[in-house]
Amino acid sequence: MDTVAAVPEQVGQRSTSILVVDDDAMVLQVMAAGLRQAGYQVTTTSNPLEGLRLLRESACDLVISDAYMPEMDGLTLTETANGIFPELPIIMLTGFGTVDLMREGLRRGASDFITKPFRARDIPLVVERNLERKRLEIERLTSHSGRILFQAITALLTAVDAKEQRTAQHSRRVAHISLKIGQALRLPEPEMRVLELGAWMHDVGKIGTPDAILRKSEALTEEEWHIMRQHAEKGGEIIAQIEDLRYLSSIIRHHHERYDGTGYPDGLKAEAIPLPSRIITAADAYETMTTDRVYRGRLTLDAAVAELLANRGAQFDPVVVDTLVQMIEDGTVR
Ligand SMILES: [Fe+2]
Repeated sequence: MDTVAAVPEQVGQRSTSILVVDDDAMVLQVMAAGLRQAGYQVTTTSNPLEGLRLLRESACDLVISDAYMPEMDGLTLTETANGIFPELPIIMLTGFGTVDLMREGLRRGASDFITKPFRARDIPLVVERNLERKRLEIERLTSHSGRILFQAITALLTAVDAKEQRTAQHSRRVAHISLKIGQALRLPEPEMRVLELGAWMHDVGKIGTPDAILRKSEALTEEEWHIMRQHAEKGGEIIAQIEDLRYLSSIIRHHHERYDGTGYPDGLKAEAIPLPSRIITAADAYETMTTDRVYRGRLTLDAAVAELLANRGAQFDPVVVDTLVQMIEDGTVR
């Protein structure tokens, strides 16, 4: 039987968190009061740049942003946030009759609009509608057509593994280890499916990385590293183009972020990195350390564990690493 590690509360359930960005203090106050009353965790800021920083540093399930602000307009904020988290619902606050602005908002990634002046009691309904849409997207991901797509993509991933001359089992193993971690963290079923698909596809962007770089046995040059690192961003972009898989794109985009915020492509920190990405990062590292490569032999389990623990809290989420290490030590993960 699998051992189930103790789950700290922040990893299991947390209440839905909403970020509200508006330069009008009155709007922030009314909005925050209405949302808190409806049971949401609310963070507010009057500065869109601060809003982006908050997004990079802490997890958020939905953003409500004003369209016009002095430091950065809501459209730019929407577009930037959407580039980092393609599936994050972003609701824009607009004035009455601004059809062109709404059209532009949709084009740049807004998912809905609230027209000013608004009634505070209507806001939770709009929020709920957008969160529901997100839930339906996850559901579609695990539906029949989602499974067919999954099969097509695992075939593609086997080709990516072969490009890198690593075992064709790499993606499968990373998915297997990720699921073990997810299970120990008691992730709900839909999130387990998202994790499984994300783990399988994490390196899909390497389809565009030259073989000469992937197979190079000497150290990469700075320029080659630059190209290598692009696979995370490219993978996210490839997946974002498949409507039914859009939900996976930020998981793939962020699989090389580091817990301390020094990773790539966006330097996201701690809980702002999607949990599936944090799990995949640890599983990917462990799988790579314990597999033979052209340029080096595999590490022993003890050495791999030491390496994971040495990077606990720096590269890896401490809770994820502790869970993985516990399972390596009790033989649940080999
Ligand atoms: Fe990768």
